[in-house]
Amino acid sequence: MHDSAITGGHLPPPPDSPMEGSFFIGDVKIPNPLVLAPMAGITDTVFRKIIKQMGAGLVFTEMISCQALHYKNAKTLGIAEFDREEAPIAAQVFGSDAAMMGEGAAMLEAMGYSIIDVNLGCSVPKVARSGGGAALCRDIPRLARVIEAVVRAVKIPVTIKLRKGWSGQEESAFQVCRVARESGAAAVTIHGRTSVQRYTGKADWEFVKRLRESLDIPVMGSGDVKTPGDVARLLEYSGCAGIMIGREALCNPWIFRDALCLLKGRPVPPRPPFQEVMEMILLHLRGLVERFGDQPGTEKMRKFAAWYIRGLPGSSRFREAVFQMKTGADMEGALREYFDWVSRRKRDCPPDATGPGEAPQ
Ligand SMILES: Cc1cc2nc3c(=O)[nH]c(=O)nc-3n(C[C@H](O)[C@H](O)[C@H](O)COP(=O)(O)O)c2cc1C
Repeated sequence: MHDSAITGGHLPPPPDSPMEGSFFIGDVKIPNPLVLAPMAGITDTVFRKIIKQMGAGLVFTEMISCQALHYKNAKTLGIAEFDREEAPIAAQVFGSDAAMMGEGAAMLEAMGYSIIDVNLGCSVPKVARSGGGAALCRDIPRLARVIEAVVRAVKIPVTIKLRKGWSGQEESAFQVCRVARESGAAAVTIHGRTSVQRYTGKADWEFVKRLRESLDIPVMGSGDVKTPGDVARLLEYSGCAGIMIGREALCNPWIFRDALCLLKGRPVPPRPPFQEVMEMILLHLRGLVERFGDQPGTEKMRKFAAWYIRGLPGSSRFREAVFQMKTGADMEGALREYFDWVSRRKRDCPPDATGPGEAPQ
């Protein structure tokens, strides 16, 4: 059920009392409620470290195929790499074969992960066609076998992440969570949308609250958390132990720092100045180049750079230029020139000047 009076920031302001509380998933302590969402093609080790430095209590990998782990696929083994400084960190896995899921989870545990999370929310054909992701929620006996196999294979806690159900009517999440809990799951993340909805409409925070109330293990709420106020409101309203932030982190990693300030009862810092935004982009770019190599790292950075500069003057013209860049040095030079231009333009123009100007080519 969607309740527009509840979702989308229409709740009363958060209470004055500090809410930055730690929580446990199994025996793993999560120092604060702020959680970086798993995002395929995005939440790599470089991005996770940035978000960790911004204050996240827990970060998730992008989803990892247990079948690919079984076949020692080099790309997948690369995706699974992480640094100790990212801990506590959850490795999110997908698949539908219980034995392979257990095997993959054990490999990830041996690498040092803190938590194994089983993806039950993804409905892209690549994942769902083989019976994994959201498709597992429609085959409850198999779901139970998979979760039991993963729990048996590792000593670290096992969690699940799912959506409300496949379509509006089902709300199958209650049954899925009950079965996963009985099979040994230690926590749940719920994204308040159905599979059919994909990313349309508003996330249903009322559903998040109801699911949380039905469970005696920690629940993390996900969907449309875009401001520090959203974090505090969803935390307070739903009683969730953790709040997951996904898309907002792509253009605004500072949301973790800002939300933590709010939860601690401190003033929320102002938007970062241009110089700080540029330093963040350069840090991200250098990290990707160092980790993946010059051209692949630069290519990975293109979309992030576009997200970071969203809404700045001349950003659409500049984005086109960024998407042609092949080396870190070229992108760094162009970014410096662009931010220099943006800063000068801001100084030269009255504050209410509107419309994008000419970005340097
Ligand atoms: C580009 C992208 C990739 C995602 N990949 C995954 C994934 O691999 N596993 C998963 O469980 N959820 C994935 N999600 C869903 C997010 O984890 C999150 O639940 C969803 O985006 C809602 O949160 P938000 O409104 O804060 O973005 C992805 C979302 C996006 C936008």
